[in-house]
Amino acid sequence: MSVEAPALSERQRVEAFDAVDVIRAKRDGGAVPEPALRWMIDAYTRGYVSDAQMASFAMAIFQRGMERDEIRVLTDAMIASGERMSFAALGKKTVDKHSTGGVGDKITLPLAPLVAVFGVAVPQLSGRGLGHTGGTLDKLESIPGWRAALSNEEIFAQLQGDVGAVICAAGSGLAPADKKLYALRDVTGTVEAIPLIASSIMSKKIAEGTDALVLDVKFGSGAFMQDIDRARELARTMVALGTDSGVATTALLTDMNVPLGRAIGNANEVRESVEILAGGGPDDVRELTLALAREMLALAGRPDADVEKALDDGRAMDRWNAMIRAQGGDPDAPLPTPRETQVVAADRDGVVTRMDALPFGIAAWRLGAGRARAEDAVIHAAGVDLHVAPGDAVAAGQPLFTLSTDDGARFARALDALDGAFEIGKAGIAERTPIVRERITA
Ligand code: URA
Repeated sequence: MSVEAPALSERQRVEAFDAVDVIRAKRDGGAVPEPALRWMIDAYTRGYVSDAQMASFAMAIFQRGMERDEIRVLTDAMIASGERMSFAALGKKTVDKHSTGGVGDKITLPLAPLVAVFGVAVPQLSGRGLGHTGGTLDKLESIPGWRAALSNEEIFAQLQGDVGAVICAAGSGLAPADKKLYALRDVTGTVEAIPLIASSIMSKKIAEGTDALVLDVKFGSGAFMQDIDRARELARTMVALGTDSGVATTALLTDMNVPLGRAIGNANEVRESVEILAGGGPDDVRELTLALAREMLALAGRPDADVEKALDDGRAMDRWNAMIRAQGGDPDAPLPTPRETQVVAADRDGVVTRMDALPFGIAAWRLGAGRARAEDAVIHAAGVDLHVAPGDAVAAGQPLFTLSTDDGARFARALDALDGAFEIGKAGIAERTPIVRERITA
């Protein structure tokens, strides 16, 4: 009779590499060999590599950068840490959009139903907001009854049927290594490293299984990347990662120096999205929605699609209503309204010469539209509504913007954030520059 040796417990397992060697290699500016990099991500996900070691490794990447091949391996290792979805059985093309985040960025809301009008499936697996850039799910949760959590079967059914678009929470099974690493980066000053941002975003998008992806990479005061050159580098890195993985990927570099549209918050951003779907709304929101829709449809083989017509003739609105109803929401129900508001008026006659995106995002966040910790709840009716845009002439006493919240104690800190955020000058500003600055392809 033979006796089988007991399986090695996690503690007895012989590890293939030593975390300190991997950290040192990157700290000293070298490229980490593929097996060591794959091991590092796997061992961190398993809990063998500690947060302290991973934070040190992330800081070394932040300072030394990574070669293109290392970024590809890092992304692939994060994908391999979880499940991979596939929409191959849908029988139609899938195309997704990802924005690197901005102030007043509600584009996903009108965009997903608009693109679905043309028979292309749009799986928008989204997140909640943390910090001054809002979260798509927080905005949609302003709609009474709307449900963010769907099973994979529900996502599939919604994409396959007449709706064709879904905006819902990304499941925790997609790239769990990234979830752990992103939370660590958030508290160790290592978020703004291009290899880490690119691998974080693209691991989730590639694992999601979309055929095509359009990236809205923002630059300017309200964006991750203030500088257009860094935004371009990030866009190129992500386009290369997508393309190398067989996902048709392009990127638009878009201006985030000024808030997008007139609404910054949650319920007010839903209202503005519905205006866009009704063929109206602010020019910049419409312009960006149409540009991204054209880009997505071109990747899905429909470069001829008349997206303007679908916004103006009600077809995109019909899809929106169907998409909201499919997830338990009532698109006709009144949205939450704030308990308290405060209007800020012009103190002189003149022209609005400047409105910086970032302070307006921070003000909306402090009013309760965003959260400081992942477990906080948002106030759906909180936010900022702008009544003017740069270039507008104003008279003394004219309302510039309205702050809204359910908790009046929040006004003071929101107003602090807005100190110096806008300017009323004598002269007009130069003509508005186009919101889409560049298109990046493989
Ligand atoms: N969004 C992500 O998902 N990851 C990052 O690193 C930055 C933005």
